[in-house]
Amino acid sequence: MAVSYKDLGLVNTKELFKKATEGKYAIPAFNFNNMEQMQAIVQACVETKSPVILQVSGGARKYANQTLLRYMAQGAVEYAKELGYNIPIVLHLDHGDTFELCQSCIEYGFSSVMIDGSHHSYEENVALTRKVVEYAHKYDVSVEGELGVLAGIEDDVVAEHHTYTQPEEVQDFVSKTGVDSLAISIGTSHGANKFKPDQCTRNAEGILIPPPLRFDILEEIEKKIPGFPIVLHGSSSVPQQYVKTINDNGGNLKDSIGIPEEELRRAAKSAVCKINIDSDGRLAMTASIRENFILHPEWFDPRQYLGPAREELKKLYAHKTVNVLGSAGKA
Ligand code: G3H
Ligand code: 13P
Ligand code: ZN
Repeated sequence: MAVSYKDLGLVNTKELFKKATEGKYAIPAFNFNNMEQMQAIVQACVETKSPVILQVSGGARKYANQTLLRYMAQGAVEYAKELGYNIPIVLHLDHGDTFELCQSCIEYGFSSVMIDGSHHSYEENVALTRKVVEYAHKYDVSVEGELGVLAGIEDDVVAEHHTYTQPEEVQDFVSKTGVDSLAISIGTSHGANKFKPDQCTRNAEGILIPPPLRFDILEEIEKKIPGFPIVLHGSSSVPQQYVKTINDNGGNLKDSIGIPEEELRRAAKSAVCKINIDSDGRLAMTASIRENFILHPEWFDPRQYLGPAREELKKLYAHKTVNVLGSAGKA
């Protein structure tokens, strides 16, 4: 039953992160749950010749099924080749919360796992992360750890405020655990409501501008662990045209504010070499489907509305690799 990711044609993150750090860009980590999202990610990354991390949360794994995911990932590799370019593809567990989940994902062909011990005490986080690293490295699987807590909702854990990563801890954490990359908290958060309007200022056009990310903390971290791969979660920009389309077509999204793309461009040029994007894909897909449901009330074949939604997703992902992360052309 157990399968190595290598037999599926996948790669771990080692080489990708090395090149991204040296080349001053970031690898996209796009979450997916279903076939259309996977197709859009692969199409966009093949067209823009970008390496990619296909990212699956514990919830997504339950939704899609572990066995199907293994074949979908293998299918993604073959699909990319069929589309004309053999891009490096990583299959990564997002926010793994237990050793057992990480172990199971590795047995089912994942090439990278995140063990998110950030809600535990420092000592417990170190011990859990170390245990996952010891197991994963036997199979040449990469491990991402996390220090600091992002505000917002993370796998049913709700944090009211950020607990920023403490630069004094990173060197100790990295050396004690042996992780391959480190997710940090510098002001991003999960979901489509990253900031409250009263935290923001308005520019001349009346657009809400959120408070800047804590690049000072990132710089301190870089000084403590030079060249070490850093990961940024909660990095959706929440494009306002999607929010408007959703709300113009019966939706009800309020106070949806994301991370300005300019800040992500800046982060991608630093030690940040993996940028996680999920919510923007959810918004693109929902906007397209809602609009088409209103425009074409007679449609009932899922291909009629999932096809355009997939096209919109592909445009979004291509935009990210070319204009935000700088990973286009690096495959
Ligand atoms: O960080 C969380 C990701 O956006 C995955 O979300 O647990 O709802 O699949 P999910
Ligand atoms: P967003 O909700 O900003 O897309 O973040 C996704 C993420 O961090 C997945 O781990
Ligand atoms: Zn995350």
